[in-house]
Amino acid sequence: MALLELDGLHTYYGLAYILQGVSLNCAEGEAVALLGRNGQGKTTTIKSVMSIVVPKRGRISFQGTDVTAWPSHAIARKGMSLVPEGRHIFPALNVLDHLRVPVSAKDVDRSERLKFVLEVFPELKEKLDDPARGLSGGQQQMLVIARALMSRPKMLLLDEPMEGLAPKAVKRVIEALKIIQETGVTLFFASTSCERAFAVANRAYVIEKGRIVYQADREEMMGNLEVQRHYLGVRG
Ligand SMILES: Nc1ncnc2c1ncn2[C@@H]1O[C@H](COP(=O)(O)OP(=O)(O)O)[C@@H](O)[C@H]1O
Ligand SMILES: [Mg+2]
Repeated sequence: MALLELDGLHTYYGLAYILQGVSLNCAEGEAVALLGRNGQGKTTTIKSVMSIVVPKRGRISFQGTDVTAWPSHAIARKGMSLVPEGRHIFPALNVLDHLRVPVSAKDVDRSERLKFVLEVFPELKEKLDDPARGLSGGQQQMLVIARALMSRPKMLLLDEPMEGLAPKAVKRVIEALKIIQETGVTLFFASTSCERAFAVANRAYVIEKGRIVYQADREEMMGNLEVQRHYLGVRG
């Protein structure tokens, strides 16, 4: 059984018809990428999962429960954590305060979680008392991922987590996502880059104009330059 399953999602912004029947799934423990050029519906898919924009039709199941149109906080409480695009930090707030997020699950041991996230992101450890505005772009991204992990989610949704980062920071985010996956967290993330996505993902879906047009595992997709060229604008 899939941990997350989207079945025929149709999502609108007002009259604008964006997702036109998106179906996909993630099995427990997988890292799945949603690939596509800008404006094809990656963010809308992620927002639909968390009911930030509620699909007009279709069904979302998470851990075997129909969570379609559940309030975002209820989906979060069930074990889904979101890392939105951009790096939403509070510039004046220090790093430790960012990690003091409300944790609704009763059995989550806050100090144990803090220890865990600082093991995944040791670069944050020495900055705990520093205001977040002093962090590099990569460190800010690590901080928002760390914050999303504080609730001990079963699944992380990440919207373009490697976008706009220096190559060294991209490498760190990739390493961290792999470690997080190894601890049993299922990953679903949007990306415009096949190569970067498959540094983490074992499988990917390609979205174009609000429809899933292709899906493949790493080996098949990396070997298929035709698809990469056609849907992702890879030259060569
Ligand atoms: N709030 C909005 N209102 C109207 N249209 C939107 C809104 N947000 C996104 N769109 C449109 O929806 C389409 C898909 O956008 P998005 O899901 O953000 O794509 P991606 O994340 O793949 O770049 C685009 O055509 C975009 O212009
Ligand atoms: Mg987007």
